[in-house]
Amino acid sequence: MNDKKRVASSTDQENKSRRSFLKTLGLAGTAAAAAPAALAETTASTGIPQYLNLVRSHSSTAANDKVRIALIGTGGMGIGDTQTALMVDGVEMVAACDLYDGRLRRAKELWGDSLPVTKDYREILERKDIDAVINATTDHWHEKISSDAMRKGKHVYCEKPMVQKVEDGHTLIKVSKETGKVFQVGSQFASSLLIAKARELLKAGDIGELVFAEAIYDRHSAMGAWQYSVPPDASPQTVDWDTYLGSAPKRPWDPLRFFRWRNYQDYGTGIAGDLYVHLLTSLHCITGSKGPNKVYSSGGTRYWKDGRDVPDIQLSIYDYGKTAEHPEFNLTTRSNFVDGGGGNYLVRLVGTEGDLSLGFDSLTVHRNKFPKAPGMSIDNFPKDQKELYIQEYNKLYPSRPELEGPKEFKYSFPKDYKGDRYEHFVNFFSSVRSKTPNIEDATFGLRACGPTQCGNMSFAQKKAISWDPINMKILGAV
Ligand SMILES: NC(=O)c1ccc[n+]([C@@H]2O[C@H](COP(=O)([O-])OP(=O)(O)OC[C@H]3O[C@@H](n4cnc5c(N)ncnc54)[C@H](O)[C@@H]3O)[C@@H](O)[C@H]2O)c1
Repeated sequence: MNDKKRVASSTDQENKSRRSFLKTLGLAGTAAAAAPAALAETTASTGIPQYLNLVRSHSSTAANDKVRIALIGTGGMGIGDTQTALMVDGVEMVAACDLYDGRLRRAKELWGDSLPVTKDYREILERKDIDAVINATTDHWHEKISSDAMRKGKHVYCEKPMVQKVEDGHTLIKVSKETGKVFQVGSQFASSLLIAKARELLKAGDIGELVFAEAIYDRHSAMGAWQYSVPPDASPQTVDWDTYLGSAPKRPWDPLRFFRWRNYQDYGTGIAGDLYVHLLTSLHCITGSKGPNKVYSSGGTRYWKDGRDVPDIQLSIYDYGKTAEHPEFNLTTRSNFVDGGGGNYLVRLVGTEGDLSLGFDSLTVHRNKFPKAPGMSIDNFPKDQKELYIQEYNKLYPSRPELEGPKEFKYSFPKDYKGDRYEHFVNFFSSVRSKTPNIEDATFGLRACGPTQCGNMSFAQKKAISWDPINMKILGAV
């Protein structure tokens, strides 16, 4: 029996499963009668909600063969990534690399005293028994280590932003094509259930036609503003400072430039590369967009005057032109590390008939169609004109009662959801095992991080910067 026939012949059962699904989402009762189109579509055509389909796809990642991984960059994200990767069946941790002794000791504390560790990532790449590496080094090392790894036959999970500079992005695209290795960027939102649902709702027309998007990433703490703790034994004896500098200008030892690298353009990418890249990743996944064609940024260093050479507040405007994937729209992004309001995170897409608001763990949809009758502003008309206007208006818009439905829908993760990062690693290892293209490849990665480099250029030059989203090229100030 095909799906359509099954649905037609088992309406009772379908209604039952639909009701229990809506109950899970907290949409049972009146809301069920007018669930957003995309939701209605998924449940009506298969009786199975979309998120269950996604979870079910995990069966394809069952551990039919082991994937042996090594971590390069054993800092905060590297440890988090590895712990998450190890939650996926059949993944084994076999080596770690970092430039600071303390982090190599930490790797042994976490993954066993016998774990081989090294300060030289090339030793990891020489090992024939390693299938994939997680590259969680500082931004200025992403391209070199990832390219070297692919050339040595390793698959790569590379943290975001994919590259510090656009030209390095083209190198990664080329190397990943030439070597055929799986290369996935680590902006985990690309694998989020909420992003998948937002994409589905937008496509189904739940908010009408997209006209505007905004994203906010505010913080209010020293850690949030990248003032990380420096370990007491930090010194040129415990840190391989010369290697760390890599392609960056030579300088004498400076523990702040090593442990608080995000604050310096030589090693990081500022607010835009660090945070907006996630927002652009989310937006591009939802809309299918290849990117903006113009970016303007402003801001400054208002509070964290600790020697950093990147702003602590940055505002950007991105112009997205009309394409086959979406209409013309604008995006604004804001990140303020001095947000006395306490911090805020939001990605919101605004359409002609509603909006989609994404928080870290929820998606809220508002629907507000324009009423058919536009209303009148005739108080200042003389009596005869007023009467004539009302007469015509009533002919055009005869008053008829209209049903009122719910205007807000909320989605949140199912209880057993292991998180976007886990989903992202499931997708990565799935690609590695099946040798299929992955969800966030080098081209996607460059389309998300290229415009953020334009944003930083714009901030520095105080001019809008033009970007070619198809060929992924910075076209210069306009
Ligand atoms: N996906 C996310 O949500 C997310 C969150 C945080 C950080 N990140 C990204 O992860 C990366 C690491 O960030 P972090 O917060 O973990 O920084 P971190 O300072 O805690 O760790 C970076 C580590 O890389 C090591 N390193 C630098 N160059 C190296 C080299 N040549 N060889 C070996 N090790 C080297 C450093 O010694 C350091 O221990 C950054 O690119 C960052 O943007 C992503």
